[in-house]
Amino acid sequence: MSGCDVRVRELKVGDYERVRNMIISGLREPTARTMKAQLMDRAAIWGIIFGLAAVVGFVTSIDRRTLAVISFLPVFMFYVSGFLYLNHYNLPMELEDCHSSCPIDRYEKFWVAEVRSAGRHEIVGSVALRRMDEYKLELKRMSVDKKYRRKGVASLLLRKALDHCKDEDAKEVVLSLSCQRILAIHLYSRFGFRPRRVYMETSMFGLLHISHMEMSYIRQ
Ligand SMILES: CC(C)(COP(=O)(O)OP(=O)(O)OC[C@H]1O[C@@H](n2cnc3c(N)ncnc32)[C@H](O)[C@@H]1OP(=O)(O)O)[C@@H](O)C(=O)NCCC(=O)NCCS
Repeated sequence: MSGCDVRVRELKVGDYERVRNMIISGLREPTARTMKAQLMDRAAIWGIIFGLAAVVGFVTSIDRRTLAVISFLPVFMFYVSGFLYLNHYNLPMELEDCHSSCPIDRYEKFWVAEVRSAGRHEIVGSVALRRMDEYKLELKRMSVDKKYRRKGVASLLLRKALDHCKDEDAKEVVLSLSCQRILAIHLYSRFGFRPRRVYMETSMFGLLHISHMEMSYIRQ
């Protein structure tokens, strides 16, 4: 990277908060390539909004302000549930797990990319590996700070993870991600990951469907 020095090292206890925030902000980013795709993802929500507005407007004679509040209730619920999901999701626990003695959820490895520039150290990326069985590992928590994207940080982290798989004689590395994470799909494809299956995940009481892709890397 130009002008600064980046190195990959293992996660330390003092890094949890920074890493957690970085992963959460990566998860929060809009992932769809186009506005249309984003709207399609939220089609059920839009349907409810307009449906509700139409029904309420048709059967009652309530004033416009109440109608507006009712119409936007589903949108409000959508964002509140998203906020709760991301903040109370098991991320903090997972991060702590990598130093706990609990073998079930523990990551086998958790690395961070750290940039040193002008005497400062800053964590700018992360990646983790979870053991699935003797020959199979799962890649998790790939995230790079927005300011440091497209500089090869994710490639550096991925290279580290794949080197570890080689050292451990793992035969396969799997991962799953939203089909809309086009940049990440490019990145993994360049490293030899191939799509294995696409599946739907539902949230918001079954109203929102998100397609996910499982990719895998078979070590030759
Ligand atoms: C996906 C992500 C990890 C890539 O990080 P990065 O450090 O920018 O990636 P790199 O610089 O190592 O780029 C590696 C390759 O990824 C692809 N890529 C990354 N950013 C891209 C962009 N803006 N446009 C097109 N391709 C891109 C390219 O193939 C690139 O190789 P190239 O630069 O030689 O063309 C980063 O964008 C991110 O953190 N996104 C949010 C969280 C996320 O999606 N995580 C993955 C979920 S599993």
